[in-house]
Amino acid sequence: MERLQKLISQAGITSRRAAEELILNGRVTVNGTVVTELGSKADPAVDRIAVDGKPLQFSAKHLYILLNKPTGYITALKDSLGRPLVTDLLKGVEERVYPVGRLDYNTEGLLLLTNDGEWANHLMHPRHEVEKEYHVRVRGKVMEQQLKRMAGGVELEEGVTAPAIVRLVKGSDLNDWISVTIHEGRNRQVRRMCEAVSLSVVRLRRVRYGCLEIGVLKPGQFRYLTEAEVKGLLQPEPASQPEPQKVRKLQKPRSTAETGTTVGRPPALTPDKQTRKQPSRTKPGEAPRPRR
Ligand code: URA
Repeated sequence: MERLQKLISQAGITSRRAAEELILNGRVTVNGTVVTELGSKADPAVDRIAVDGKPLQFSAKHLYILLNKPTGYITALKDSLGRPLVTDLLKGVEERVYPVGRLDYNTEGLLLLTNDGEWANHLMHPRHEVEKEYHVRVRGKVMEQQLKRMAGGVELEEGVTAPAIVRLVKGSDLNDWISVTIHEGRNRQVRRMCEAVSLSVVRLRRVRYGCLEIGVLKPGQFRYLTEAEVKGLLQPEPASQPEPQKVRKLQKPRSTAETGTTVGRPPALTPDKQTRKQPSRTKPGEAPRPRR
């Protein structure tokens, strides 16, 4: 006998946490009877377990997929607004797979999908702290203070964020690119961290998940993980160290008496060229070098 939420996730329907919601919402039956208690157990060899009337099928074959999610797709398995689903992009994949965690509709980049509920649960469990790296294009120029605040933890509605690795990747006259590496998985976390320090996000792309990088996949393309990658993701990895912020400081505005003008535009930050271990050396919008 196993707990129902574990069986549902093992059958590749969804993660264990989402399976609990299915149970609480009365969508799960055992031998035709709706079960809404989270502690309930069943025996898949004997009991008929169904979600929304569909019997669970325990597939022996596990699939592990890395998709480069384009913007304009949602990571849910159905959408009441009829928007495109990430699973629509998996042409030729017959088995039902579901996303490991979520990316916003407007976020692009690395998304894992699987029908191995236990593997997905492991990766998503806060205890395992898998690092996720994002490249963020922000409106205008960033200031050292903003990066430092994000790195140290910012106050969000539900509490202060854990320390993050935040650095400037590429400066330009219009919009800077920054890299943000976090290990938490709060809803819209990177966007809210940026908002908290008054940075407006123009583009958000996940470029790394643990030891996996987005690679050469174009938006909408996917590939299967190798066995080594599947196992490698389960290994605890040494946490990346925050890099020293080697960036130009925002100069104090000089007075109009000194300059003859009003306060000038803050000088641009310069991308960090330090040689300490970096979680990724990818340039925004470019395919990264394979790690290892
Ligand atoms: N952080 C966000 O704000 N959005 C995502 O999609 C992922 C991380």
